[in-house]
Amino acid sequence: MMRFVELIEKKKHAGKLSRQELAYFINGYVAGEIPDYQASALLMAIWLNGMDPEETYELTVAMAASGDQIDLSAIPGRKVDKHSTGGVADTTTLIVAPLVAACGGKVAKMSGRGLGHTGGTLDKLESIPGFRVDIGMNEFVDIVKKCGLSVIGQTGSLVPADKKLYALRDVTGTIDNLSLIASSIMSKKLAAGADAVVLDVKTGSGAFMRDVKDAEALARAMVDIGKRSGRRTVALVTDMSQPLGRAVGNAMEVKEAVEILKGERAGDLLDVSLALAARMVCMAKPEIECEQAEKEVRSALSSGKGLERLACMIEAQRGNPKVLENEGLLPKAAQTVTVKAKTDGFISCIDTREIGICALLLGAGRQKKTDTIDPAVGIWMEKRLGDPVKTGEPLAVFHVNNTGGLEEAKMRFLSAVKTAPGKPRIPALIYREVT
Ligand code: URA
Ligand code: CA
Repeated sequence: MMRFVELIEKKKHAGKLSRQELAYFINGYVAGEIPDYQASALLMAIWLNGMDPEETYELTVAMAASGDQIDLSAIPGRKVDKHSTGGVADTTTLIVAPLVAACGGKVAKMSGRGLGHTGGTLDKLESIPGFRVDIGMNEFVDIVKKCGLSVIGQTGSLVPADKKLYALRDVTGTIDNLSLIASSIMSKKLAAGADAVVLDVKTGSGAFMRDVKDAEALARAMVDIGKRSGRRTVALVTDMSQPLGRAVGNAMEVKEAVEILKGERAGDLLDVSLALAARMVCMAKPEIECEQAEKEVRSALSSGKGLERLACMIEAQRGNPKVLENEGLLPKAAQTVTVKAKTDGFISCIDTREIGICALLLGAGRQKKTDTIDPAVGIWMEKRLGDPVKTGEPLAVFHVNNTGGLEEAKMRFLSAVKTAPGKPRIPALIYREVT
């Protein structure tokens, strides 16, 4: 019989926890046999002394086994998943999944909702009238077979260990640990059942890992877990020192994604989407080279086949596919308010997290999980880093329904977007690929 205090003592002295000990921790904690105060002590010892790659992997496996493990074997072909560590105006899933599907990949994606400054794919899709994300597992599998993609909410019993541990980490100062973040994210990917995973690890002012080195270390830790568990895993470290797309807000982001899939709009959001989609296709089709995958993705875009896949999914999940031809069918805010530059210069710095908070203040996001969101509202960014700007020129257009948070949002927006006299250095869009 293991005594949990011995595990705490071991990690306190920077010892290495075994597979059995980590499984005992996870199973005991989920079963309610290990109390929060003991679990907290172990988490803090892990935060202080770290875990090696083997421990991190064993923790992840124990977590993934704590609930449902999705079986996607009814879907022929290789199932590829993608995960982004979260950002602002990051609508890549809505672009990438249809493009990958159009190239023959199968994307069975479990997504989350927006929280705090970051948006969530489920909320974005639900801004399409009628769209359902709470479909059953059988229907999910059928839609992936038919359309090549489907997006649903995480089932309540997917990695219960993560739900319970994340809540505890949140109140014990133990969120920001590489092994704990990597195991939290990868346990959900392993349980969700895909054969291969492409990770988009964000860095910059809107990201969890503000520093490139930290983001790269997280990418390596997650790729290592993927490898050890026999799933092909690749990570890109990409920039989040400004909102990735122009739109921050649910229906507005859907509209932007559709414009990109129609070939009407280029820019950083498209470029990151193409890079992610190419890696996914490359892993879904081992018979082709990655350069070939990139060509296939580009041709899925220019032929409109990606857009067709999106229409297929929207229709199958009871949304109105006519939104793709007529954007007027998406929810629209009552008024727009232009936020203007107060000085001349170049856009030198954007506090991306703050932009996400401004959209939240307008009603596009939630402070806590139980808040409701307004799908119509948000922010359209008129300027990107390095753009020249003149006093009185629009920096952004706010789409507003409830004016309650408007003044605070305007004020915070103006301090989040800085101008300088000289043209600044523009950060790279894709920093690294970790394989
Ligand atoms: N996202 C997760 O899912 N888990 C973490 O620990 C951090 C970010
Ligand atoms: Ca996300």
